Parts: sequence; structure tokens; C-alpha cells
Amino acid sequence: MSSTILNLTLSSDEPLFERVFTVSPLVLVSTLEPDGTPDIAPKHMAGPLGWHGFYAFVCSPSHGTYANAVAREAFTVSYPTPDQVLESSLAAAARAEDATKPMLAALETAPAQVVDGVLVAGAMLHLECELDRVLDGFGDNSLVIGRIVAAAADERAVRSIDRDDADIVHGLPLLVYLSPGRFAKIDDSHAFPFPTDFRR
Ligand SMILES: Cc1cc2nc3c(=O)[nH]c(=O)nc-3n(C[C@H](O)[C@H](O)[C@H](O)COP(=O)(O)O)c2cc1C
Repeated sequence: MSSTILNLTLSSDEPLFERVFTVSPLVLVSTLEPDGTPDIAPKHMAGPLGWHGFYAFVCSPSHGTYANAVAREAFTVSYPTPDQVLESSLAAAARAEDATKPMLAALETAPAQVVDGVLVAGAMLHLECELDRVLDGFGDNSLVIGRIVAAAADERAVRSIDRDDADIVHGLPLLVYLSPGRFAKIDDSHAFPFPTDFRR
């Protein structure tokens, strides 16, 4: 049975990527506030920028995360597990009248090793980044780009020659954000059917 294709109107009143579901990671970006308190915010528009140690996330210049990353020239990224979805969401709760984020108490943290900052305890992957550059002007969004200067992962998440990749994903499932407004736990995966002569 053939499906009907709908043309989608390109309008800022009805953002395109709220009309359909797409798959994104969900990460927790942490920065230090002007008084040195850790800030943590969820981001789904985030990921490695190429293969040479750059990491980027989309951020509004009105967010504390943006100002902190620019001022301190550093940020960290934690990849939460599906068990941490609620705490991850709380990191987006509105600031209190005194501009603090009391909900962050729900997230246990540990000090970063190289940059000044914290990592979210229990996350499966931790990255520490020094600010490389910020690209402004994508409407009211910017791209914050860092150089990864340290990385650490839950031992169960790390690939190795003597472990089957499918078992790794099954043993420590991945959290994905199904934008807009849904999430999924991935514990079942398949080898990608690369062409025989494929090279990166
Ligand atoms: C699931 C989820 C995903 C989000 N993804 C992004 C994102 O990719 N970029 C962004 O700028 N804000 C994103 N946000 C919103 C901010 O993280 C949120 O407004 C946060 O509270 C800002 O905090 P801050 O002022 O401490 O930086 C997301 C929020 C949620 C709940």
C-alpha cells in the first residue's frame, strides 16, 4: 500500500521539527555559574563535530549554559542512562526567583578531571571540553563548540574485541530523545549493513 506524502509548511509559527519525530541523543551539559556553582542543562541538539575531537551543542544565548561556557571557556557533557531520564528533565526546570536551580539537587555530581566543572554521576559517557568557538546567528540559537580534552565511560559501555557489540547495547541500554517530547530506551540493536567496500 503506498503512503500519501504531505508537503509541510515552513513557518516559524509551526516549527518543522515539531511536526515529525526524529531521533536525537539526550545529554547533560554542565558549566559553572559566575559564583562557581555547577549548572546542568539537558540538550538534544548535540554531538561530535567530525572525527577530530570537537563537540558541539545548540544553545540559546539567553541560557545560563551559554553565558557560563563563554565566560569560563569550558563545559562538560554527560550522557545519562535511561534510568536517569527524570533527573535529566529536572535539570530544565525553571530557575527560582534568586536565579538558582534547586532541582539540580536531584543530580549527583563528581568533579571533572581536567576542566573546572562537574560531571553527572552514573552517566555512561563523560566528556570534558575547552571552548573552541561559538557561532551565533542561527535565529535565536547559537552553536557552542568545544575541544574534547578528557573522556571517560562506564566500563560496561566500552567496546572491545572480546565483547559482542549487541551485548554491550543490551547490557547497558542507551537513552534516546525522540524529539519532540518522547524518549526511548534502546537495548536491541543490529549490525549496520555497510556495503562491502565501505570506508569512512
Ligand atoms: C529534553 C530537552 C532537550 C533540550 N534540548 C535543548 C537543546 O538542544 N538546546 C537548547 O538550547 N535547549 C535545550 N533544552 C532547554 C534547556 O536545556 C533549558 O531551557 C535549560 O533549563 C536551560 O538552562 P540554563 O539557563 O541553566 O542553561 C532542552 C530541554 C529539554 C527538557
